[in-house]
Amino acid sequence: MKFATILPFISAVSASCLHGTSLMPRAADGTVDINSFNYTGLGGPLNWYGLDKSANSACASGKHQSPINIETDNISYASASSVHFHVPKVDSAKFENLGSGLEVVLTNGTLLAGNTSYTLAQFHFHTPSEHRINEEHYPMEVHFVFESAASQIAVVGFVFELSQFGYSTPLFDSVFAHLDDIATPGTYTMTDALDFSGLTQHLNSHGIYQYTGSLTTPPCSENVAWFLSTEPIVVNVQSYNAVKHVLKFNARYTQNSLGQANLLEVAASNFN
Ligand SMILES: *[C@@H]1O[C@H](CO)[C@@H](O)[C@H](O)[C@H]1NC(C)=O
Ligand SMILES: *[C@@H]1O[C@H](CO)[C@@H](O)[C@H](O)[C@H]1NC(C)=O
Ligand SMILES: *[C@@H]1O[C@H](CO)[C@@H](O)[C@H](O)[C@H]1NC(C)=O
Ligand SMILES: *[C@@H]1O[C@H](CO)[C@@H](O)[C@H](O)[C@H]1NC(C)=O
Ligand SMILES: [Zn+2]
Repeated sequence: MKFATILPFISAVSASCLHGTSLMPRAADGTVDINSFNYTGLGGPLNWYGLDKSANSACASGKHQSPINIETDNISYASASSVHFHVPKVDSAKFENLGSGLEVVLTNGTLLAGNTSYTLAQFHFHTPSEHRINEEHYPMEVHFVFESAASQIAVVGFVFELSQFGYSTPLFDSVFAHLDDIATPGTYTMTDALDFSGLTQHLNSHGIYQYTGSLTTPPCSENVAWFLSTEPIVVNVQSYNAVKHVLKFNARYTQNSLGQANLLEVAASNFN
């Protein structure tokens, strides 16, 4: 069994090269505005409505809010052939720490789903995962946010699972390579080259959960078309710990089942 013990060791050594960059972080390339909402105290999800009652009303009264617990025997599945996710390779992209999350700004990308064509706006990360699958949560989740010409929103998401063998998803290694530069909220850096072909292949070769929900951050707007890969992608422990160190905690609490009363409204009425 010697081989089995050596394999993770080798992976851990190569992963530590990534970690090595944290010893001498570069400076951030510049600053960005941070979001006013967050995940702590009165800035957190229980009070997003309170932060701006007119803009964020859906957060407190919407009946199709995200994230949800996905029950795999009570959810729709999109056929991979009906969801066309295409993001061309880029040499570099802006990677921002918004305080409320980490976001890559990238507008070269398209999604064709149903009969609607969408354009990529950005992708960002949550830790821990926002969606639960049969009640189970995951260490991390990535959301690719698309918008149509008529301002309809679609999100393609993937949950991450930790790899016990040190495996990772190369696309996200490239995103996280300069993570340490943006440890401070309100800063940005530039990523290495990003190649989306492996992720696209992953999406195309597994099932896709599909439902209509909302943005998981203010203003919690509804009619968002969600597409979540049924198969987690991998992240190694070193990258996950590095991301968690910067991202800390940014998952909205699990919302009520689709079509059911908003949990905040129910709780408020019980309190009265
Ligand atoms: C969270 O947001 C609230 C409201 O904007 C703010 O008062 C608070 O300082 C923020 N807390 C953190 C830890 O960012
Ligand atoms: C986005 O696509 C356009 C048109 O194909 C191209 O000119 C541009 O260089 C691309 N941007 C990036 C960041 O690759
Ligand atoms: C797409 O459009 C065609 C033709 O208008 C229609 O028959 C089909 O039902 C539409 N598909 C979806 C998913 O809306
Ligand atoms: C199935 O999902 C619907 C919402 O999509 C929900 O109203 C219903 O309660 C769920 N059924 C079960 C058995 O959980
Ligand atoms: Zn998100």
